[in-house]
Amino acid sequence: MMEKRIVVTAVVRKEWASLKKRPGSLVKNVVVILGDPHKPDCIKPSCVFDDDDLYTIDRLKEALRDLKGFCFTYFSNHDTLIQDLVKKEPKIDFVFNLCDEGFLNVPKKELHIPALLEMLGISYTGSGPQCLAFCLDKSLVRGIAKEMGIPVPEAVFIKPEDSTFELYFDFPVIAKPNLGDSSFGITQKCVSHSPEELTNAISEIRERFGYDKPILVEELLTGKDLSVGIIGNPPESYTVLPIIEEDYSALPEGLPRICGYEAKWLPDSPYWNLRSIPAKLPEEVERNIVEWCLKLFGRLECRDYARFDWRLDALGNPKLLEVNPNPGWCWDGHLAKMAAIAGLSYPQMLESILKTAEARIYTHKDERASHGTNGNGTPEVK
Ligand SMILES: Nc1ncnc2c1ncn2[C@@H]1O[C@H](COP(=O)(O)OP(=O)(O)OP(=O)(O)O)[C@@H](O)[C@H]1O
Ligand SMILES: [Mg+2]
Repeated sequence: MMEKRIVVTAVVRKEWASLKKRPGSLVKNVVVILGDPHKPDCIKPSCVFDDDDLYTIDRLKEALRDLKGFCFTYFSNHDTLIQDLVKKEPKIDFVFNLCDEGFLNVPKKELHIPALLEMLGISYTGSGPQCLAFCLDKSLVRGIAKEMGIPVPEAVFIKPEDSTFELYFDFPVIAKPNLGDSSFGITQKCVSHSPEELTNAISEIRERFGYDKPILVEELLTGKDLSVGIIGNPPESYTVLPIIEEDYSALPEGLPRICGYEAKWLPDSPYWNLRSIPAKLPEEVERNIVEWCLKLFGRLECRDYARFDWRLDALGNPKLLEVNPNPGWCWDGHLAKMAAIAGLSYPQMLESILKTAEARIYTHKDERASHGTNGNGTPEVK
């Protein structure tokens, strides 16, 4: 008689695997990588690190000093970064990658830091090089979002060699560098109400930032200007911080309501006094935005933390502006403001990023390696 057998297979997900510890030490040796304060930085108004930037770094060090379970070393000399990492590698548990300036303070080389760390076999906090490459290119992210059914503003992509283009939507519009960060190149002059103004805005961006860079012209959204912060690694474990919106009530009449370069970098500008406040949104709008952010987090391969910028149109419909997988970490930045609204101090915010990364590095790495997959099986069509 043939024996009848039922074979049952299952995957057991470990609740919490124990941390991989260096023998004899509970304290993690963490190297913090920062921008190089001795090199030019084209994003900053005077192209160098000023007192404010140095104060920001001091605030970071002060915040990290009190965190238990970590011993921090700071690497910011990019000329010796590779040698320094190689030399210290055996003693590094992981790197806290806070270099949002990019290698040598070049924004396009932001991805070089995680790429270098991967080549050296050093674990690190935050997103990988592929994700940073995707998200530097706003047009690319727009395309991915569109494919996922996530709303984005109308836009035209202008190549460096284009001398004419067709605008298939109405004024007002905003022109901005397609490869951008920290609102570099986004000023009140980028907002245009006519073809003449738009031509001038594009010429100005090209003159200031180079004729070899693509430009994105988007419909100008005039509703709430929103930002969403996520710390963690969805779907397993994550926190969506309270959504914030820019408060434009103190801005003089007649100035375009945008939170661009003037608001982030120019203390003498009327934009300098913009404040971020908790966003008041209809429940459904907030639910949709959060769901879309989580989907984008996964699709773009964000890790540990990220910030998503959105804006409502005049009718209150949310549209995605951009994804920041290596968002500003400053004590007074957007992420810290959201964290504060959630009741997290600046040190607690940094700690939660570190803990999230630590859990991923020491738990999920093993899990993924053993299953060889991230997914849960065959997807269902809805
Ligand atoms: N289509 C748009 N409609 C209205 N405002 C816009 C639009 N695009 C950009 N802005 C304004 O410009 C700001 C900066 O834009 P965006 O987030 O795309 O640039 P960024 O350089 O990546 O900024 P950062 O990295 O500093 O967040 C937005 O927060 C918003 O105020
Ligand atoms: Mg932004």
